[in-house]
Amino acid sequence: TFELILQRRQMRLPVGPGESMADVLQLAGVPLETLCEQGVCGTCVTRWLDGEPDHRDSCLSAAEQATHLAVCCARSHGPTLTLDL
Ligand code: FES
Repeated sequence: TFELILQRRQMRLPVGPGESMADVLQLAGVPLETLCEQGVCGTCVTRWLDGEPDHRDSCLSAAEQATHLAVCCARSHGPTLTLDL
Protein backbone atom coordinates (compact mmCIF):
# COMPACT_ATOMS: atom_id res chain seq x y z
CA THR A 1 0.00 0.00 0.00
CA PHE A 2 1.17 3.51 -0.73
CA GLU A 3 -0.39 6.94 -0.70
CA LEU A 4 -1.05 8.73 -3.96
CA ILE A 5 -0.87 12.51 -3.64
CA LEU A 6 -2.53 14.70 -6.28
CA GLN A 7 -0.64 17.96 -6.15
CA ARG A 8 -3.09 20.21 -7.98
CA ARG A 9 -6.17 18.81 -6.27
CA GLN A 10 -4.55 18.54 -2.86
CA MET A 11 -5.92 15.01 -2.51
CA ARG A 12 -4.34 11.97 -0.84
CA LEU A 13 -5.59 8.54 -1.87
CA PRO A 14 -4.44 5.16 -0.57
CA VAL A 15 -3.55 2.56 -3.22
CA GLY A 16 -3.81 -1.03 -1.99
CA PRO A 17 -1.81 -3.99 -3.27
CA GLY A 18 -4.61 -5.26 -5.49
CA GLU A 19 -5.57 -2.00 -7.18
CA SER A 20 -3.92 0.28 -9.71
CA MET A 21 -3.54 4.04 -9.42
CA ALA A 22 -5.90 4.29 -12.39
CA ASP A 23 -8.56 2.32 -10.45
CA VAL A 24 -8.16 4.57 -7.42
CA LEU A 25 -8.40 7.75 -9.50
CA GLN A 26 -11.51 6.49 -11.25
CA LEU A 27 -13.18 5.65 -7.93
CA ALA A 28 -12.30 9.13 -6.64
CA GLY A 29 -13.84 10.75 -9.71
CA VAL A 30 -10.56 12.12 -11.06
CA PRO A 31 -10.62 12.15 -14.88
CA LEU A 32 -7.90 10.03 -16.43
CA GLU A 33 -8.02 8.50 -19.88
CA THR A 34 -6.86 4.90 -20.15
CA LEU A 35 -6.87 2.45 -23.01
CA CYS A 36 -4.62 -0.59 -22.78
CA GLU A 37 -4.22 -0.61 -18.97
CA GLN A 38 -0.99 -2.53 -19.58
CA GLY A 39 1.64 0.16 -19.93
CA VAL A 40 1.78 -0.12 -23.72
CA CYS A 41 -0.25 2.65 -25.36
CA GLY A 42 0.86 5.72 -23.37
CA THR A 43 -2.67 7.14 -23.06
CA CYS A 44 -2.48 7.43 -19.26
CA VAL A 45 1.03 8.92 -19.11
CA THR A 46 1.18 11.66 -16.49
CA ARG A 47 3.90 13.82 -14.99
CA TRP A 48 5.07 12.79 -11.53
CA LEU A 49 6.54 15.30 -9.10
CA ASP A 50 7.82 13.52 -6.03
CA GLY A 51 8.48 10.04 -4.71
CA GLU A 52 10.12 6.97 -6.19
CA PRO A 53 8.00 5.45 -8.97
CA ASP A 54 8.17 1.74 -9.71
CA HIS A 55 7.82 1.94 -13.49
CA ARG A 56 6.17 -1.08 -15.09
CA ASP A 57 5.34 0.29 -18.54
CA SER A 58 6.89 -0.64 -21.84
CA CYS A 59 6.18 2.66 -23.60
CA LEU A 60 8.43 5.22 -21.90
CA SER A 61 12.19 5.70 -22.31
CA ALA A 62 14.37 6.05 -19.23
CA ALA A 63 14.56 9.80 -19.90
CA GLU A 64 10.77 10.03 -20.08
CA GLN A 65 10.42 7.97 -16.90
CA ALA A 66 12.48 10.58 -15.09
CA THR A 67 9.49 12.93 -15.32
CA HIS A 68 6.48 10.85 -16.37
CA LEU A 69 4.86 7.53 -15.52
CA ALA A 70 2.11 5.28 -16.84
CA VAL A 71 -0.63 5.60 -14.24
CA CYS A 72 -2.28 2.31 -15.26
CA CYS A 73 0.64 0.14 -14.20
CA ALA A 74 3.27 2.08 -12.23
CA ARG A 75 3.52 1.57 -8.50
CA SER A 76 5.61 3.21 -5.79
CA HIS A 77 8.82 2.09 -4.12
CA GLY A 78 8.24 4.59 -1.32
CA PRO A 79 5.28 5.34 0.97
CA THR A 80 4.03 8.29 -1.11
CA LEU A 81 3.97 9.21 -4.78
CA THR A 82 2.97 12.68 -6.00
CA LEU A 83 1.41 13.28 -9.41
CA ASP A 84 0.76 16.52 -11.30
CA LEU A 85 -3.01 16.03 -11.23
FE1 FES B 1 -2.09 2.35 -21.96
FE2 FES B 1 -1.66 3.18 -19.45
S1 FES B 1 -3.53 2.96 -20.47
S2 FES B 1 -0.19 2.84 -20.99
